[in-house]
Amino acid sequence: MKKIDRETVQRILDVADIVDVVSDFVSLKRRGASYLGLCPFHNERTPSFSVSKSKNICKCFSCGKGGSPVNFIMEHEQMTYQEALRYLAAKYNIEIKEHEMTDEERERETERASLLAINEFALRHFETNLADTDDGRNIGLTYLQQRGVSEAMVKRFHLGYAAERPTDLYEAAIHKGYNEKYLIDTGLCIRTDTGRIYDRFKGRVIFPVFSVSGKVIAFGGRTLKKDVAKYVNSPESVIYTKSNELYGLYQAKQSIVKHNKCILVEGYLDVISMHQSGIENVVASSGTSLTDGQIRLIHRFTDNVTVIYDGDAAGIKASLRGIDMLLREGLNIKVLLLPEGDDPDSFAQSHTSTEVGDYISANEVDFIQFKTGILLQGLENDPIARSRAIGDIVQSISVIPDPVTANVYIKECSRRLDIDERIVALEVEKRRKAQAEKDALSVRQDRARKSIGEPTEENETPVSDSVSAGVGPSFATHTVSSDVPDGNSEEARFRRFMYQYEYTLVKYMLRYGLLSLAEMF
Ligand code: CTP
Ligand code: MN
Repeated sequence: MKKIDRETVQRILDVADIVDVVSDFVSLKRRGASYLGLCPFHNERTPSFSVSKSKNICKCFSCGKGGSPVNFIMEHEQMTYQEALRYLAAKYNIEIKEHEMTDEERERETERASLLAINEFALRHFETNLADTDDGRNIGLTYLQQRGVSEAMVKRFHLGYAAERPTDLYEAAIHKGYNEKYLIDTGLCIRTDTGRIYDRFKGRVIFPVFSVSGKVIAFGGRTLKKDVAKYVNSPESVIYTKSNELYGLYQAKQSIVKHNKCILVEGYLDVISMHQSGIENVVASSGTSLTDGQIRLIHRFTDNVTVIYDGDAAGIKASLRGIDMLLREGLNIKVLLLPEGDDPDSFAQSHTSTEVGDYISANEVDFIQFKTGILLQGLENDPIARSRAIGDIVQSISVIPDPVTANVYIKECSRRLDIDERIVALEVEKRRKAQAEKDALSVRQDRARKSIGEPTEENETPVSDSVSAGVGPSFATHTVSSDVPDGNSEEARFRRFMYQYEYTLVKYMLRYGLLSLAEMF
């Protein structure tokens, strides 16, 4: 495969005109200096999609989507960067000059493509098993039916079944000419120490994991037996970094944009059951706590997140940890607790769609209300509990990047806990400063650590070479400084002696001065 060369990229970027590019998909009307139309990325009746010819960018004032001509095409056509460039080159008749990929680039591309291809094959194999084999229907499908999963959801989420026979997938893939190496690299098959190969997911119901753009990058398999690990998942690979993916995002993204809100749950079946009850803007972090990568992924589609937690103690604890991470990324957070004993799956299965929707809107609360509720439960008149709650909430407010939003929450907090607004604001400011100082320090320390870790030829001066790392070597060979006295008088000898120390001291100050002593020793 080839890569478009840099010059061509520049020509495409120079020529592509945003009004022209967007007009192929959106009907635009002139409004003063810019153009306006209905946003193609979410449902709306009054136009909020604005295109600026002079800046050569577009932006929806309602959902925030937009960007350069390339961004627009990538988003609208769900293309990669290279694909979008090719699209624009074709539109403007720009001849594409390509450069051959380096061996390394090519190898990586081939490997990615091979892993994706074999996953695609496995996906179809598992789906066929579920629909068309006796075991698949009697065991897999029956299980899904018991769990209340509809046929439509089986199709939508491409659920499947891996046969019990340990080499079912392996043999099918090899028979089709797929390379054993990629079966191992994707984790679909496992090679034992003795060299035997078997299917990782054998005897399990399969939940494929899709990337944002709909490629199968991993699988989760749920056992139907009692005594084994409930879920087994694909290991990380060239195509799968668990902390950067969210289960269900591919199926949810349009709904997330449309409702400008993402609902976050824990597991595969939570997502599926919510979809089934008509609430489609739902994704799962798949059991682990939320990562920064996942949060950024959500942020690409919306600013608003509602986190649903099981009503048990563990769920609540986990919720408090996740909230600050979401706030730090600048998202607006609401929290919803389910009745005790329910998870989103069981709740959605035991209520009508309207009930689920109504329950969410009636019970989702902003994080301050949530934290106050949790932290003050039964302790409303306990001054210590109150002050702990205040500290906790103030901490959360202090990580919100947008000062206007933070201010809204300061007001809310002061109202809810009945404390003077200025005191809350002051406390928030204090923590903000402390955090900023901590951040700055860790940046400095990182930098200093790097400079110690990688002393290169260039930053070692010839002077320090001869003085070496210590005070030891004599100065007699030194030629750099004309200030160093020669001769054999008492004074000259003393000054040479001191020079070594001064020199070394300055050297250490320059090189390690940004490190605190405690870090170094
Ligand atoms: N999970 C996982 N790997 C594990 C355990 C859990 O990927 N070893 C993820 C799955 O996405 C799972 C979610 O974490 O759906 C929640 O796990 P758990 O609470 O154990 O299961 P449930 O979702 O309740 O599973 P089920 O409803 O199928 O019993
Ligand atoms: Mn469950």
